[in-house]
Amino acid sequence: MKTIKVFAPATVANLSCGFDVLGCCLDTVGDEMVISLTSEAGVKITKIEGAILPMDTHKNVAGVAVEALLKKYGKDIGIEIEIYKKIKAGSGIGSSAASSAGAVWAVNQLLNQPFSPQELVEFAMEGEKLASGNAHADNVAPALLGGFTLVRSYDPLDIIKLNTPKDLVMTVLHPQIEVKTSDSRSVIKHTVSLKQAIQQWGNVGGLVAGLCTEDYSLIGRSLEDVIIEPLRSILIPEFTAVKEAAIAKGALGCGISGSGPSIFALSKGIETANLVAETLQKTYSKTGLEFDIHVSKINNQGVKTID
Ligand code: HSE
Repeated sequence: MKTIKVFAPATVANLSCGFDVLGCCLDTVGDEMVISLTSEAGVKITKIEGAILPMDTHKNVAGVAVEALLKKYGKDIGIEIEIYKKIKAGSGIGSSAASSAGAVWAVNQLLNQPFSPQELVEFAMEGEKLASGNAHADNVAPALLGGFTLVRSYDPLDIIKLNTPKDLVMTVLHPQIEVKTSDSRSVIKHTVSLKQAIQQWGNVGGLVAGLCTEDYSLIGRSLEDVIIEPLRSILIPEFTAVKEAAIAKGALGCGISGSGPSIFALSKGIETANLVAETLQKTYSKTGLEFDIHVSKINNQGVKTID
C-alpha cells in the first residue's frame, strides 16, 4: 500500500472585488489527509475526524473529486481516504475546497503526476459543486496552486497564478455561526448596473496590478466590493464594526472571506496583522458570540506533503 499524508490549506475566496474569480491560500490553517493506493478497486472514505461529514464516497466532496480524477485516468484503481478536519464547515475559509483539493493533489502524487494543476482544479471543482451547487474555483485554485490565483475564465477554464507580495499577512475572524455557501449565494442579485460593474472591474484590475507590482497601497485601494458585500454583510453580525476596527489599526483592506461568515483583513507585515487581530478580538468579544481568530502568512505552495 502506497500512502501519502498532506496538509490541505484553508483559502480566502473573492478578496472583496473578485467574486468567484480571486482567491488566496493560507499557511497556518488547514486540514490533514492521509490517502492510500490500495489493491481493491474503488474510492473509499475510511475515516473522518473533527467533523460530521458523509462517509459515502458519492456524498463526500473528497470522494466525488477523486472519482472525477479517476474517470479521466481511465484505470480501475483503489483509493482510501482519511480526513482530519480542522477547518469548520460553513466557515467561509474553504473547508470543502481543502478536502477536494487535498484529495486530488495526493492521488495525483500517488499516480506519479499524470495531471496538471489546472486539471486538478477541474476535478476539485466537482467537490465544490456537490458542496454548494456551484462549481466555483476560487477556493480550490489557490488551495492547489498556492499564493493568489485568478480564474480568468470558467469556460474554458483558465487559471492564472499571480505574484504574492512577501509582506502580506491575513487576519481572519471566524464567528462560530454556520453560513452555508448555498444560502449566502441565494441573497445575491443576478444583475448589476453598469456603474457597479465599472467600479468592480476597476478594482479587480487594480488588485491584480497591485499584487504583481507589490504596490501595497494599490492593493488596499482595490479591496472594495460594491456588488456582493452590501448584500451578504447583513448575514454577519457586526461586520461593519469589524471592518472599521481593522482599517483603523492599519489593515490594507477588510471584507467577507468567501461566502462568510469569516471576515478577512489583509495587512502589510506581521505586526499590523497582529494588531488587527487584537482589535478584532476586542470588537467581537462584545457580541457574546464564540469566534476564532487566525493570523496567517500567504502559503505560496498550496497542498503539500507532511510527515
Ligand atoms: N466565490 C464563492 C462565493 C466562494 O462567494 O460564493 C465560496 O467560498
